Amino acid sequence: MNILLIGSGGREHALAWKLASSPHCDKLHCIPGNAGIAQTAICHDIDVSNHQAIIGFVKEQGIEFVVVGSEQPLVDGVGSALREAGVAVFGPSKKAAQLEGSKGYMKDFCARYDIPTAAYGRFTDFDTAKEFIEKNGAPIVLKTDGLAAGKGVIIAQTVEEALEAAKEMLSGEAFGEAGTELVIEEFLDGEELSYFVLADGENYLPLTSAQDHKRAQDGDTGPNTGGMGAYSPAHLMTPDLEQRILDTIIKPTVEGMKQDGTPFQGVLFAGIMVVNGAPKLLEYNIRFGDPECQPIMMRLESDLVELLLATDQGRLDMLKEQVKWSNDYTLCVVMAANGYPGSYKKNTVIKNEGKLETMEGVRLFHAGTVRGDTGELLSAGGRVLGVVGQGATILEAQERAYQGVDAIDWTQGFARRDIGHRAVAAMKDKAA
Ligand code: AMP
Ligand code: GLY
Repeated sequence: MNILLIGSGGREHALAWKLASSPHCDKLHCIPGNAGIAQTAICHDIDVSNHQAIIGFVKEQGIEFVVVGSEQPLVDGVGSALREAGVAVFGPSKKAAQLEGSKGYMKDFCARYDIPTAAYGRFTDFDTAKEFIEKNGAPIVLKTDGLAAGKGVIIAQTVEEALEAAKEMLSGEAFGEAGTELVIEEFLDGEELSYFVLADGENYLPLTSAQDHKRAQDGDTGPNTGGMGAYSPAHLMTPDLEQRILDTIIKPTVEGMKQDGTPFQGVLFAGIMVVNGAPKLLEYNIRFGDPECQPIMMRLESDLVELLLATDQGRLDMLKEQVKWSNDYTLCVVMAANGYPGSYKKNTVIKNEGKLETMEGVRLFHAGTVRGDTGELLSAGGRVLGVVGQGATILEAQERAYQGVDAIDWTQGFARRDIGHRAVAAMKDKAA
């Protein structure tokens, strides 16, 4: 079948690599893609927010399946528009996408279906927000209701800081329209992990776990980013914890969405805080994580086209026993432009990336890259490359990833040097 992938990040390069390797995939197209994706897919410059243009393209090219990588087009309704046009889609409907598109919707949904999450309130005016903050004290967490590219969360350490943030957010100063409604919630103290399942509206199929590193600098310091590295599986995951996540969070979500008349089809990415051994839901995402997707795709041994297509066709229950994962660990280190997540230069030259092709247990995924006039590789965004290492232990995966990072010649970029540090420490503890 002819397949269209929508997106341009490292996540989409990993998806493109896996989709293209499927015997079901004839031609892979991508809108808009990047320099890495262009090695396996035909890239097209079409405005992702123009649903009619996308539908027109799909019909013209005889595309039978569309895989949507990121949240914004799904929240804008591209999944619904394509399904209405009779095209199979990986990704939820516009209504179901509200699980990520509106924090308030997600929190009310969890309250109705008794899904464990931080205690919260929803606010549109400062005086009631102030009352809530003063009553609950700090630390306390403020979140913009709408999508804010991972930047709409503030963890206030004092009441004063929380009041100031609430004022700025509610006025629209900090995040514009996306921020004029707030969720304010209890601070959860624990360790985070990311957990992924596929859902077809009725059934769910557990995938695997990962752990992301959101801060820009080593030791989890510096500003929050989209994610500077991730590995899979998460070291704190156990069969017992996984079962509790499935029973108390995933199952009631899939059933509740169906009961509400907004069945969820696609990937459910649960951001989990493990507090004293018990899982609590921090947030839902309605797409794969970036960079979590890169190490996850490296561990997946089953056919990705079959799995993703089954979410649209309601056939996940038939695939449950068939999903195969490598027992290896995989670990992705993101290389970002100097200055990221603040301002940074574009069009800086990257060299030696080809060296990684011959390195054992190493794979390069592109994020913000383009080709220059003479074919040279240039940076085109904040997060630019993702180097994944694969190994029998987390330490080996980490060593291989950094061998790849060190082989790349890019003076205008940086990477954290400690991706996977919690898992490596846990492994060393166990061995001691
Ligand atoms: P979110 O976009 O909701 O995932 O939030 C971004 C990050 O903020 C999460 O990955 C957590 O590290 C942190 N966070 C969000 N909500 C809470 C909470 N209630 N308690 C503690 N940390 C939180
Ligand atoms: N890496 C976090 C995210 O994709 O939301």
